[in-house]
Amino acid sequence: MTSPCNWYPALPAQRVSATGAVIAVQLRGQDLAVWRGASGTIQAWEDRCPHRGVALSLGRVLGDRLACAYHGWEYAEGSGRCVAIPAMPQQPVPGKVCVKTYAAVERQGMVWVALDSDAAAPADDPPGVAPPRFLRSMAVAAASATVDAALAALEFAPAGPCRWRGHWAGHTLHLWVLDAAADTCVLHVASEAAPSDAAVATLFNALRLLRARIEHPRS
Ligand code: FES
Repeated sequence: MTSPCNWYPALPAQRVSATGAVIAVQLRGQDLAVWRGASGTIQAWEDRCPHRGVALSLGRVLGDRLACAYHGWEYAEGSGRCVAIPAMPQQPVPGKVCVKTYAAVERQGMVWVALDSDAAAPADDPPGVAPPRFLRSMAVAAASATVDAALAALEFAPAGPCRWRGHWAGHTLHLWVLDAAADTCVLHVASEAAPSDAAVATLFNALRLLRARIEHPRS
């Protein structure tokens, strides 16, 4: 088993670009909207607008704000507080309107999110270690304990919180296991050495086999 952690590897950091992407992520059944504001820091928010409940992951980034896709209410990075209601510019913004926010950090090339903990975030990889090359994130129809047991049976080794390292199809892989929902995990897969373009297609087929072995360990 990997070491316990109150932080969860939500997604590869490279997916949260500086150009305004808002990514929907499910983490232990909680829907999140993950984005990067003008300050460059990662934001992980409840994926629900306080106004009428529309998913904020449908919204757009406006510098240091996230604007809801429905009525355009704007929420400030960091606090999640509503700071503008464009349709009613003459009226003051209700002071208590605020999106629920979660702690988020970037480590190991991943965005890590804590739902309910002040525990220390996972350590970063040591300086000088080449960052793994993220290949894909794939959903697996299995609970996290089942995924962990299957990876151990396939001779992957724990490599930190929610992280495994091992060999598959001739590649050394790093796998981060996200407990997304009941009986559903997401495996974030990275290669220790960048595979050639030709090898990537073969590796993707091998990853489908890996998923099948995790979901059906006795087949
Ligand atoms: S539902 Fe988001 S601004 Fe109305």
